[in-house]
Amino acid sequence: MVNIVAIGGSTRPGSSSELAVRMAGKGAEAAGATVVYITGRDLMLPIYDTESSDRTEAASVFVAALRAADGVIVASPGYHGGISGMIKNALDYAEDLAKDEHAYLDGRAVGCIAVAYGWQATVSTLHQLRQVAHALRAWPTPLGGSVNAAVVSLTEGSEDAATKAQLETIGRQVTEFAIMREATANKTTAG
Ligand SMILES: Cc1cc2nc3c(=O)[nH]c(=O)nc-3n(C[C@H](O)[C@H](O)[C@H](O)COP(=O)(O)O)c2cc1C
Repeated sequence: MVNIVAIGGSTRPGSSSELAVRMAGKGAEAAGATVVYITGRDLMLPIYDTESSDRTEAASVFVAALRAADGVIVASPGYHGGISGMIKNALDYAEDLAKDEHAYLDGRAVGCIAVAYGWQATVSTLHQLRQVAHALRAWPTPLGGSVNAAVVSLTEGSEDAATKAQLETIGRQVTEFAIMREATANKTTAG
């Protein structure tokens, strides 16, 4: 069973970036994954503290979910041309995985999705998310998600077909990569 963690959203309940990550999660579920969603205000973690290994309950849950994940989907709103502070801070907690056998997000695919109110921040935020995924030794999926909320309204129950297809494909790609990695690992063990 493939286990995916889907993170995203802003502090606003029902935010468009939260809905985007949930749509992508549906694609992962349809491809056979179990998806753990950590979204919105559950990502309001204290600033990542390099001077202490004490972690809040929410931060511990978040780090444990990342550690257990075979793949990750992350959606950030575009804030002033980049990843929101809340999402970037959550991703900084991957530092707690630095000494794991598979350090950071090594060997895992990350589906990256940016939602902004204009093309410029949509594209630059997606680019940043991919850079962060690379820094965490992960594999950004071939398809990235870019949702321009000035063009497409992402609200509960909204079903823009192209956006849905784009986001579900990202979830599917994360899952397929995890399945392929698992098959390769089993083959190596068997051989
Ligand atoms: C602090 C802040 C900065 C923002 N900066 C930008 C920006 O630079 N460019 C842009 O297109 N949209 C910007 N936005 C709009 C969000 O990207 C937009 O509302 C998007 O739909 C994601 O927000 P949501 O996930 O809360 O719905 C900003 C919003 C906030 C609150």
